[in-house]
Amino acid sequence: MLNSEATDFCIELLAPHHDKAAFSCGNEQLDRYLHTTATQDKKRNIAIPYVIYDKELQKIIGYYTLSMSGINLEELPQELARKLPKYPIVGVNLIGRLAVSNDYRGAGWGKLLIMDALHRSLSISKTTASFAVVVEAIDDDAVRFYQRFDFQAFPDRAFKLFRTMTDIAQSFERS
Ligand SMILES: CC(C)(COP(=O)(O)OP(=O)(O)OC[C@H]1O[C@@H](n2cnc3c(N)ncnc32)[C@H](O)[C@@H]1OP(=O)(O)O)[C@@H](O)C(=O)NCCC(=O)NCCS
Repeated sequence: MLNSEATDFCIELLAPHHDKAAFSCGNEQLDRYLHTTATQDKKRNIAIPYVIYDKELQKIIGYYTLSMSGINLEELPQELARKLPKYPIVGVNLIGRLAVSNDYRGAGWGKLLIMDALHRSLSISKTTASFAVVVEAIDDDAVRFYQRFDFQAFPDRAFKLFRTMTDIAQSFERS
């Protein structure tokens, strides 16, 4: 198993030297996105793709994308929305996609990707305010994965989940 202790890796922006075509996570949509769309999204300032890269085997271990987004206050649970000013939209960071290659599954890489995305979002929020990190889960399995990292589903939106930036900041302070 190719785990993070035995692997020489780095986390970096998707770049031309990364072999995107060889990446396979078992989900066709997420594979195709990396193969054909991620570089375009980066060029057009739509989303920034980050990869964990195995330097020795020269393989993409996993990737996620980050962009800014907004949520309507009405989407949030009432007890949370009640504490916020009545602006129609609040800013959030969006992890649009996240996947780990089949070859590296079950060895902690998904956790590393999510922690990196949360930490990066927290850093950004110190200069550009962001109320939460939002994720779009691709299926029920992905929902369970995000719940493992304390994301909660928006009411009536089983596949869209969030975690407040306050909660993220507190968890990094504790660790
Ligand atoms: C979901 C995915 C990213 C997990 O990657 P991974 O490297 O295998 O996950 P890790 O080994 O880092 O697991 C981290 C933790 O999440 C848990 N976990 C992993 N996959 C899970 C799942 N599908 N459901 C619930 N928990 C899950 C692990 O048990 C582990 O828990 P622990 O820390 O208590 O031991 C990977 O399976 C994948 O790419 N799936 C296809 C695409 C996908 O579903 N992407 C999700 C976002 S759309």
